[in-house]
Amino acid sequence: MMNKKLPKVWYGGDYNPEQWDEEVWRQDDRLFKLAGIDIATINVFSWALNQPNEDTYNFAWLDETIDRLYRNGVYVCLGTSTAAHPAWMARKYPDILRVDYEGRKRKFGGRHHSCPNSATYRKYAKRMASQLAERYKDHPALLIWHVSNEYGGYCYCDNCAGAFRTWLKERYGTLDALNKAWNTRFWGHTFYDWEDIVVPNALSEEWAGNRTNFQGISLDYRRFQSDSLLDCYKLERDELKRSTPDIPVTTNLMGFYPELDYFKWAKEMDVVSWDNYPSLDTPFSYTAMTHSLMRGLKHGQPFMLMEQTPGVQNWQPYNSAKRPGVMRLWSYQAVAHGADTVMFFQLRRSVGACEKYHGAVIEHVGHEHTRVFRECAELGKELQLLGDRLLDARSDAKVAIMYDWENRWGLELSSGPTIALNYVNEVHKYYDALHQLHIQTDMVGVEADLAQYDVVIAPVMYMVKPGLAERIEAFVARGGTFVTTFFSGIVNENDIVTLGGYPGELRKVMGIWAEEIDALLPDQKNQMVIRGKQGQLEGAYDCGILCDVIHAESAQIVAEYGSDYYKGMPSLTVNRFGQGKAWYVASSPDAKFLQDLMKTICGEHDIAPVLEAPAGVEVTSRVKEGKAYTFVLNHTDEAQTIPLGEAVYKELLTGEKEQGHCQVPARGVMILEKLLGHDG
Ligand code: GLA
Ligand code: ZN
Repeated sequence: MMNKKLPKVWYGGDYNPEQWDEEVWRQDDRLFKLAGIDIATINVFSWALNQPNEDTYNFAWLDETIDRLYRNGVYVCLGTSTAAHPAWMARKYPDILRVDYEGRKRKFGGRHHSCPNSATYRKYAKRMASQLAERYKDHPALLIWHVSNEYGGYCYCDNCAGAFRTWLKERYGTLDALNKAWNTRFWGHTFYDWEDIVVPNALSEEWAGNRTNFQGISLDYRRFQSDSLLDCYKLERDELKRSTPDIPVTTNLMGFYPELDYFKWAKEMDVVSWDNYPSLDTPFSYTAMTHSLMRGLKHGQPFMLMEQTPGVQNWQPYNSAKRPGVMRLWSYQAVAHGADTVMFFQLRRSVGACEKYHGAVIEHVGHEHTRVFRECAELGKELQLLGDRLLDARSDAKVAIMYDWENRWGLELSSGPTIALNYVNEVHKYYDALHQLHIQTDMVGVEADLAQYDVVIAPVMYMVKPGLAERIEAFVARGGTFVTTFFSGIVNENDIVTLGGYPGELRKVMGIWAEEIDALLPDQKNQMVIRGKQGQLEGAYDCGILCDVIHAESAQIVAEYGSDYYKGMPSLTVNRFGQGKAWYVASSPDAKFLQDLMKTICGEHDIAPVLEAPAGVEVTSRVKEGKAYTFVLNHTDEAQTIPLGEAVYKELLTGEKEQGHCQVPARGVMILEKLLGHDG
């Protein structure tokens, strides 16, 4: 367990004392105590301060900061400071500067801007990590390492081009194999020399960020850049581990961030951490889904909420204030989905530069008499009282949704069949349906062990990587229910079509053949007309975006299309395969259909809602040492009544007994521990 030294939900966040003087530090010490803060993430952007020139390292300020925090009961999440390289380094070693998508060489400025394949960057980043690790390895304040910050962005420089060729040689062995994998006879792209291969950006194959002439090279470039940044992370991590093998190492991720394959990253991290910045109108089921994904990266292991704003942000188009109660509600939402920390960006609002309008626990006024501070302090107190009760509790979901970054890259890079297809949105539609039904759902990768699940849903599983079809077949054969959709099973991992009929490798388990794929115009609809009544499915539902024109082979037809030239042809099928079933949803249906389908499938597996709660109330469950904790999160502006059935609960935040019904205040939270012996 990560929270051994500080056995409670860690509470704190990013802290930049280097931007302030001693007088302010004294205020910070006092205010942190008042707010119940016990962890500070420091040293994230202080490379320039730590290393003023090539040969000088200066950690006096950091020594002092860590000691001061520790004296005041605050532990540290210690950054490695490599998230922004120093100006002198950029001037002296321009190889650390990235080349952008348009082919322009960057100059010094901004952050997260080092070329991941720069030998200079790697050398100095590694050296910094090793210096920090040696220096602070025995410091009792050190709880966890925070490597760099929000890795991301791609580079297209000559160093990267060279490293890309090496990466390709390792992946394909020979140019022949590469030419075949990328289908380079198309448009006369055959490569006769590795040096012929250039990076795919706006100067070569791509435009508009993710449009490409050649999926093969564009897909591999994404893999390669994700790997390159991951190598940078590993380089630092290995240095840290050498001196502090027992201190966990993380780097903060960004949810559905498109550019990095986080399933691959998570394997190298001791604990997943992520930065949650929804806007006022982000559906709360979308945030829930993102938390679930972050939990799924390490197979259900608790994650860290590394950053959220206590009040406002600064980088969104409209930076709405979090309404009273919302910061607390969203903090518990993270915990409800598996977070063992609640942390902010940032603890004190900065005085200058672009983040001065970003909220903080301590606002510009500098004292504790603000709404935001009061809310933070109240939550701090609550988390102290909660202690270690929930730490390391797990999800007990029986339903999983599969998500895959490479599949996303393949889909998004595809020219056709429609620009209306947004993979994450399609995934969210299914998650949202389950969420509205209050059915606990995990998000998993394509390599996940499916043993604990009864139902696995893989929306738009366009790319079927080696072994996936076999794993799905085995899952269904042993009694599981699998659901996939239109535009699935189309290509292999190199974006080369699986010949012999869609959905390719999934055809056997789905028992259908998709002959054509029809894209609908934005306001065009078709219908899924249920034949008779099937479980909760009845009548006609709207569908759109894409319609696969399919033939049932071994599958049974559950619904047919209601219009167009494929009227009467199947739009929803179910195939019995071994002990289980495989559903093919041939178009993108409306929300009502998805709820009815999920009810039908969950009903067949006796998967019940965590609680029957009204709309706008989120319910999740975490289990630990045989105890079940039910979180009730009221996202509405009114108090809500929740029927509790036969069971008797203790509410952890008030200590009160709840039974029969419970009342959750507007934007309120309840954590219900089921009392044993009252199972009903
Ligand atoms: C990111 C970064 C932080 C800060 C916040 C502001 O998450 O990691 O350094 O810039 O955004 O929202
Ligand atoms: Zn580069």
